[in-house]
Amino acid sequence: MCDNIKVAARLRRPLLRESDSILIAKVKSENTISIGRNEKDECKTFQFDHCSTYSDNALEDQEQLYELLARDYLLHALDGYNTCIFAYGQTGSGKSHTMTGSTQCPGIVPRICQELFEVRDLYESSDDQLNTQFKIRCSYFEIYNETVRDLLGREKCRIRERPDKTTYVEGLKEFEVFCVSDILEYLSQGNERRVVGATQVNELSSRSHAIFTIDIEQQEITPLGHTLERKSSIKLIDLAGSERASASKTTGEHLKEGANINRSLSTLGRVISTLAKTKKPILIPYRDAALTWVLKESLGGNSKTCMIACVSPCDYEETMSTLRYATLARNVKTSAQVNAHELPDGREQILAMKAQLEELQKALSQVDNQRAIGERMEKIKLTNQFLESRIEQERDLTASYYKKWAQATSERDSLMLLVGGILGSVQETQVNALRGQLSSLKFRSEKFGQRLDLECNELKYDSGE
Ligand SMILES: Nc1ncnc2c1ncn2[C@@H]1O[C@H](COP(=O)(O)OP(=O)(O)O)[C@@H](O)[C@H]1O
Ligand SMILES: [Mg+2]
Repeated sequence: MCDNIKVAARLRRPLLRESDSILIAKVKSENTISIGRNEKDECKTFQFDHCSTYSDNALEDQEQLYELLARDYLLHALDGYNTCIFAYGQTGSGKSHTMTGSTQCPGIVPRICQELFEVRDLYESSDDQLNTQFKIRCSYFEIYNETVRDLLGREKCRIRERPDKTTYVEGLKEFEVFCVSDILEYLSQGNERRVVGATQVNELSSRSHAIFTIDIEQQEITPLGHTLERKSSIKLIDLAGSERASASKTTGEHLKEGANINRSLSTLGRVISTLAKTKKPILIPYRDAALTWVLKESLGGNSKTCMIACVSPCDYEETMSTLRYATLARNVKTSAQVNAHELPDGREQILAMKAQLEELQKALSQVDNQRAIGERMEKIKLTNQFLESRIEQERDLTASYYKKWAQATSERDSLMLLVGGILGSVQETQVNALRGQLSSLKFRSEKFGQRLDLECNELKYDSGE
């Protein structure tokens, strides 16, 4: 959705010290503010989307500005659009009063926080089944001397570009907030650090640009039972004073600081005037300053943006310069889109999850199989190693047995030979002995036979035969 940046002018009330000053600016109608050096001077009028003046009741003025201008940006954010409100103007023109205000007289930021949580409570406590769940986070940083300082986290951060060409602050701390006091606590913590940081360099907080971001995530059940998710962010910016550096401030640290403020605000001016052209050049100088680089989307992209030009009623030059700057911004178009998408409904989700589960189980079983195979392989490897060592051992044993066997065999053979020899010799002696015995027996029996014969013969002779 193509939309022009909405530009409002806010005329602050004269301060006590200005009670004697000539009032140079006047809000003529809801859309017109006029400015002249003095009453006789011809007035110059400027038209804006909204012009607000002051009354005797500062609190009511704050309330009115919120209701007529700022509330819409909360509502757009709840619809899913990114939104941005920034206050521009010279130091002392009422930027911080407009954006933050005080406890007694709260400005846009605390009012947006308050109403956001009221809406959240209303939605979340509703009895119907279509209630919306909220997730709200906040972050706070400042740009001082072209450096990004996280006001809720570590000091310095860098601005990075995403692949889709949007920019973000790298490492910026974001805090989830659950109630309005949570978010206001972070806001005041950041503001304190902003002041401390600024006083360390002997300057007022108006020398830095402060950017407070609220991120909203909503999950809503549609009547068809689908879940719709909306994401949006609200950027609330209190810019550094836009006044030109005075002669007294043009030395040393102040010179650098002033140059950097001028650089970021003049780059903001150039970006705005480039974006305001009908025929836009290809290159928009966002990168020339940290402020425009980080606000790239808010200035020329996906955002509904509002600029509040805060002006003093007594400083002609500065008020004129601010109103001219603001006029330029009126021609800038942004193209905000609702950042919402439907989440797959329950049934589809379950089916998708089931399919995913099956796939995972399959993969797991494969992994298990592979693991089992691996384990078995490992076992086989171990068994092989064991067997190999056994074979080796057995081979050694066999060799030693064989050796022993060969030794035993040869020992046995030699023993056999010996035994054979012994046996042979044993038999021979026995035979010889027997032979000896036989021959002695034979000899004795022959002798005996001879004697017997003799005796027989003697007997025969004696008997007279
Ligand atoms: N609309 C207003 N009504 C009443 N007081 C205001 C208004 N705007 C600014 N002031 C007062 O003017 C002074 C300077 O405003 P401040 O917001 O600090 O300026 P800036 O932030 O632009 O430097 C503060 O004291 C503030 O309370
Ligand atoms: Mg301020």
